Amino acid sequence: MQVTLGTFEATGKIWQRVYSVLDSGRLTYGPVSREFEQRFAAMHGCNYGVLTNSGTSSLVVAIQALKELHGWADGDEVIVPALTFVATVNAVLHNRLTPVLVDVDPSTYNIDTTKIVAAITDKTRCIVPVHLFGQPANLWRITAIARDRDLLVVEDSCETMLATWNGCSVGQSDIGCFSTYAAHLLVTGVGGICTTQNEDYSKRLRSLVNHGIDLTELPNGEEYDPTFLARKFRFTSIGHSFRITEIEAAIGLAQLDDLPDMIAKRQQNASTLTQLLQPMAEKLQAPAIHPQATHSFMMYPIVLRNGSKWPVMQHLQDAGIEVREMVPLTNQPCYNFNENDYPVAKWVNESGFYVGCHQGLSVDHMRYIAGVLCDYFDTTT
Ligand SMILES: Cc1ncc(COP(=O)(O)O)c(C=O)c1O
Repeated sequence: MQVTLGTFEATGKIWQRVYSVLDSGRLTYGPVSREFEQRFAAMHGCNYGVLTNSGTSSLVVAIQALKELHGWADGDEVIVPALTFVATVNAVLHNRLTPVLVDVDPSTYNIDTTKIVAAITDKTRCIVPVHLFGQPANLWRITAIARDRDLLVVEDSCETMLATWNGCSVGQSDIGCFSTYAAHLLVTGVGGICTTQNEDYSKRLRSLVNHGIDLTELPNGEEYDPTFLARKFRFTSIGHSFRITEIEAAIGLAQLDDLPDMIAKRQQNASTLTQLLQPMAEKLQAPAIHPQATHSFMMYPIVLRNGSKWPVMQHLQDAGIEVREMVPLTNQPCYNFNENDYPVAKWVNESGFYVGCHQGLSVDHMRYIAGVLCDYFDTTT
């Protein structure tokens, strides 16, 4: 049996939307992108959505927009969890800001909010909580800490969609950043989207995605009038070419109605696997869902209580089960972090991996994963 980490099905709805884009002859930003942005943002309780070409690009422009609009200086500090994909830290560094890491909670793997205040200095400008593996970080606590100290919040929600903390959706802080890369919750191949409630932020984000072009004097929606560039070619920021095409937007839009069901299937698979792993609880930690959170399960993280992940990962892979490390950050050769300063992240780096639980998998796949893990522990202990 093969158990993959992600899935993508080219449904009839996707073919239809993509054909219609091709028929229209318009590939660059247009009505399909606009509808995708608006509907995705609304599904997360936000007024504005801005498409980009990746989750990383979304993070880069989100942080840049806030840096420019709030006058942050180079070297100012941004708080980031010590366990996340490298893109979170890279987005801070690309903006010439300093990432300050905070260790993560040992049961949710999200930023440990009890450790944030100690990491704040007079140079701190922003907190970037990362909603890892599909579960929101403690947004209420993070927002309260930020508001009390005039800090801003950019959510790295690249692994999480439609999940809530105390009933509030992810993506509603100053700016939320999502990814639609392969094996994510909603897949368009490459792609990302920023969400916000703040019109000024949304305008700056759109400008930064489009080379920093001046959009300020144009009424809403007019910015992509094809005659626009002929009328005005003025750049107010040093921006990027982070645009995406109507084709990716069509692929995304065609999946939006089904996204809640796709996530419900992931939640079901995850719950089945958690029950099946219960007899192995002394050996491994299954994912815990915080009582105030819902979990969209982009993947199913497992951390061994002790020992190295590598032999278990090899055993799973040999049995046809795709597996990945749980996003190690603090030990990457491109940075100079001291892994020992972040003991929980270090434990996850040494002992954590994830498997798939997506909507293309069934109870049988979950039984297979549990069986292969059980065999491993039976033969090694
Ligand atoms: C936590 C996190 N942040 C950022 C990204 C970057 O997203 P992208 O690959 O779309 O650039 C990812 C990608 O998986 C991620 O997991």
